[in-house]
Amino acid sequence: RPTLRVGVLGSGTVGSQVIRLLLEQADDFAARSGARLEITGVAVRDVDAPRDEAVPRELLTDDAQAVATSNDIVIELIGGIEPARTLILAAFASGASVITGNKALIAAHGPELYAAAAEANTDFYYEAAVAGAIPVVYALRESMAGDRVTSVLGIVNGTTNYILDEMSTKGLSFEEALAAAQELGYAEADPTADVDGLDAAAKAAIIASLAFHTRVGMNDVEVEGIRSITADDIREAHASGCELKLLAVAQRREDEQANGISVRVHPALVPADHPLASVHGGFNAVLVEAEAAGRLMFYGQGAGGTPTASAVLSDVVAAAAHRVNGGQAPRESSYADLPILPPELA
Ligand code: HSE
Repeated sequence: RPTLRVGVLGSGTVGSQVIRLLLEQADDFAARSGARLEITGVAVRDVDAPRDEAVPRELLTDDAQAVATSNDIVIELIGGIEPARTLILAAFASGASVITGNKALIAAHGPELYAAAAEANTDFYYEAAVAGAIPVVYALRESMAGDRVTSVLGIVNGTTNYILDEMSTKGLSFEEALAAAQELGYAEADPTADVDGLDAAAKAAIIASLAFHTRVGMNDVEVEGIRSITADDIREAHASGCELKLLAVAQRREDEQANGISVRVHPALVPADHPLASVHGGFNAVLVEAEAAGRLMFYGQGAGGTPTASAVLSDVVAAAAHRVNGGQAPRESSYADLPILPPELA
């Protein structure tokens, strides 16, 4: 079997689990992908900072540029826009296949990254960017390609779903519930992105782009987070037979008033018998309506180190198999020109 060189940028909650699983299951990965996957370096900001013991110290380096440009497969798990964007562009330019879980970066710079991958004749994968372990990127891009998606409704942020649940079931304060979500590895490095709905908005933009073959960016999404939700709001929701959930909504609208798509994130009252009402804790769910298929629901762990590592590793296998065997790698969809509706019509 050929050997492929793998570089990892970042070794936090997700990165450390990706490294652990790649090392522990090396033979399985070789069998699944057709190549031996050799981790050559793990770029971190501070080599001496305490970290998961599954990450061998001798792999650590603070030279992210070298890791980005000297491997066949580069896994970016730093998060945020910079330096992640520049490192990914450098990785493409060096001919590497790039895998990321960075939803903020894709929502802000997706077209630029796709163009750079195409220019370098290499591949770009981001299954881990939306809904952790749930294969929703693959589902929307590949499995639904034969159908016309009319709406996607999702609980796509584990942190806020967990906070709302803990406030409602254990009577925790907002701050206590957030601290618990951070402890479980659900929250982003800066949990503001979770709490204010921005993490869900980035995922909604990616979902809408895939579902409707339209370029939807972060700025196209109307966002309201959960910061102002109180325990009383949750009690009132229950009293009216509902659960309070932070929803990401992407809908196609074709009627006399409007023609286009609307994408938004906001807290919503979900009736107790609706399939999304029973999605609790760090779990996510994505409900897709399509013209021919009808309703489909995808459910699973949407945050946390190991579930998100599972999504990253599915991309690693796909990227390695594509490098070894050739064939069709995922590409950016060809785009229809569906306008994004302004808030008053959405
Ligand atoms: N902070 C994110 C969440 C992690 O809570 O869902 C997964 O993208």
